[in-house]
Amino acid sequence: MKSEDRAVMRVLAGEKMWPPPIWMMRQAGRYLPEYREVRKKAANFLEFCYSPDLATEVTLQPIRRYGFDASILFSDIFVVPDAIGYPVRFEEGRGPVLEPLNAALIDRLDQDRAEKHLEPVIETVTRLRAELPTETTLLGFCGAPWTVACYSVAGHTTPDQTAARVGAYRDPDLMGRFIDHLVTASIRYLVRQLDAGADAVQIFDTWAGVLDDAGFERWSIRPTRAIVDGVKAERPNAKIIGFPKASSARILKYIEGTGVDAVGFDWTAPDEIALEVQKKVPIQGNLDPMRLVAGGKALDEGIDHILSTFDKGPLIFNLGHGVTPDADPENVARMVERVKRG
Ligand code: CP3
Repeated sequence: MKSEDRAVMRVLAGEKMWPPPIWMMRQAGRYLPEYREVRKKAANFLEFCYSPDLATEVTLQPIRRYGFDASILFSDIFVVPDAIGYPVRFEEGRGPVLEPLNAALIDRLDQDRAEKHLEPVIETVTRLRAELPTETTLLGFCGAPWTVACYSVAGHTTPDQTAARVGAYRDPDLMGRFIDHLVTASIRYLVRQLDAGADAVQIFDTWAGVLDDAGFERWSIRPTRAIVDGVKAERPNAKIIGFPKASSARILKYIEGTGVDAVGFDWTAPDEIALEVQKKVPIQGNLDPMRLVAGGKALDEGIDHILSTFDKGPLIFNLGHGVTPDADPENVARMVERVKRG
């Protein structure tokens, strides 16, 4: 099947498909026992991302189990800073830890090492396209620069990204230099994913919602626009989904300012806003992942609400954020079955 005929790609081109295609953020993850088995084989999380054998296997697991319409490359947003030489590590039970941002670190960043460093991830994309069912859309991704940078100011994440916000106010030039590096590396990385077989890409801006208006413009919209422009300059037909979490109040500004082709919503987005946006661009979302933990009536009602509210335009059914490790795999099966009934 040709890329543009795959269901998610048809929706990204503006078509309403019913039942809507479905995939799930973090669909390859710890809620799946088969993921936890493979995870044990990797020395650490980044090594896992850089192993084409393991990364291909876990990416395919949720496709085999549930038949999702899209498969998202298994990797992480921190392979980009890692690739240009920014110190990143994952601590068990704590998550990602980046070295606190400073000028000496920025001076040492090297764009040229990214090509070779990210080769195993690109190899995974190539293998995935060869192994996935032909009708399954393959999505690549990167983190939005602000979200990546959030983990670099205090060296780890703080509630509401207070450290990153203070850092950006105190030294916007330093933050800007880091962000510029991330933009450059992300453009190259996304273009390579598209060339290796990704049908479309998503930019995850998980922490866009903690910014004030000026910060949203400077740290979320501007770098995302630079990535969208950079990718489209090289691959004019590329489709890009933006996911600025907790930003529904600014979503129209975001769409106009960045030039993304579609947007993801989290579950806090008011229906009226998502409906308005759906008249302009395809939307993706937005089931609260906690409904997959609760299951039963709460799950069914959440699904039915999305289906009955957004059935007039292009929709990609998804969660409002990643599935959590405590979600019941049976509830995921129930969700897919219910969405497929339309
Ligand atoms: O969606 C997918 O299935 C594709 C793979 C993917 C991962 N991370 C795998 C992962 C994607 C798209 C991401 C994006 C990502 N990573 C974001 C943006 C989206 C979001 O979820 O907010 C962010 C902020 C990160 C950073 C990150 N990676 C954190 C904070 C953590 C630790 C917290 C946690 O959930 O474990 C990770 C680790 C990580 N990335 C895991 C997975 C499956 C869990 C690691 C493990 O197996 O131990």
